[in-house]
Amino acid sequence: MAHLSFLFLTLLGHIASTVYAAPITSRAGTTATTPVSISAADVSSKFGRAAEFSRVSYCSSAAVTSWKCGPPCDSLGKGIEVIQAGGDDGLVPMYFVAHDPVTQSIVVAHQGTEPSNILSILNDAQFLLTGLNSTRFPAAKDGSIKVHSGFQKTFERTADGVLAGVQKALKATNVKKVVVTGHSLGAAIATMDAVMLKQALGSSVSVTTTVFGLPRGGNQAWADFVDAALGSTLTRISNQNDPVPTVPPRFIGFQHPQGEVHIKAVDAKGAATDVVVCAGQENENCSEGNSVLKTSIPNHLGPYFDNISFGGASCPL
Ligand SMILES: *[C@@H]1O[C@H](CO)[C@@H](O)[C@H](O)[C@H]1NC(C)=O
Ligand SMILES: *[C@@H]1O[C@H](CO)[C@@H](O)[C@H](O)[C@H]1NC(C)=O
Ligand SMILES: *[C@@H]1O[C@H](CO)[C@@H](O)[C@H](O)[C@H]1NC(C)=O
Repeated sequence: MAHLSFLFLTLLGHIASTVYAAPITSRAGTTATTPVSISAADVSSKFGRAAEFSRVSYCSSAAVTSWKCGPPCDSLGKGIEVIQAGGDDGLVPMYFVAHDPVTQSIVVAHQGTEPSNILSILNDAQFLLTGLNSTRFPAAKDGSIKVHSGFQKTFERTADGVLAGVQKALKATNVKKVVVTGHSLGAAIATMDAVMLKQALGSSVSVTTTVFGLPRGGNQAWADFVDAALGSTLTRISNQNDPVPTVPPRFIGFQHPQGEVHIKAVDAKGAATDVVVCAGQENENCSEGNSVLKTSIPNHLGPYFDNISFGGASCPL
């Protein structure tokens, strides 16, 4: 846990500097549009399965490939078929590609990076923005689209495997839907995956992306690129006073894509009791408006809703 607290101290340091560098009012790219409530039932039906798959991504590869990970696997019901699993639980975070017979879709789920990997990503001056790989994303040719270099490095370690796995899975099952999900740094990788898959799979395959506790992954041009590629098919769920969605800070050039759904309250049973849909890329009435004095590291792990939490402790197997 020492590494994890290092991460959060680093993150909190950046949050503190944001306050000095940029006043909360009237910043470009920010909206204060009043968010619209969404019912707990809608949250469960729209995002519940993705959350359960993201929770499973923290289980060991053996438990995932055999689909014997205890309650996190059991809660998804019978018939899930893992078509490919990758990563090494080390430098390359785990991911899996599975067929979900309930929704007739191919699911790609990314594990959040383990504490030692988080350290290696955030250390090493990798907080910097770097050009998006224009071989993979030809739209990035003019160099204006910049992403977090550590996230891109991590993404590149599994990108080819994810793409090949999804193409194989679509062929084998003949379904036309792909669902991409992940939590924390896994959410950042999942978002890059989704843009890659959308570009590579063509319009006959739908790609839906639901991520949890997403940190900012790139600059304004990246946020606009994600919006153009994914639009309303991307949902990024933020939980109460989790500091992670507010870093890296905007004053060093980072910006979120649209699609935030913000959880404002969760009861003692892990049920979300106040959830809102937030317009715009950065909405002051959602996580962008969180007070730096009230950040909560436990809010990053959960529970988010339906008593679903993420991280190694949520899947000990
Ligand atoms: C939204 O944010 C604006 C600016 O911070 C604030 O004046 C307004 O009261 C907020 N609305 C809601 C519903 O929280
Ligand atoms: C960029 O993407 C291509 C695949 O399109 C890949 O082969 C290459 O390794 C990537 N470059 C970097 C620096 O990751
Ligand atoms: C919520 O989940 C935790 C494990 O993650 C469990 O210990 C607890 O009993 C659950 N609470 C309810 C109300 O189901």
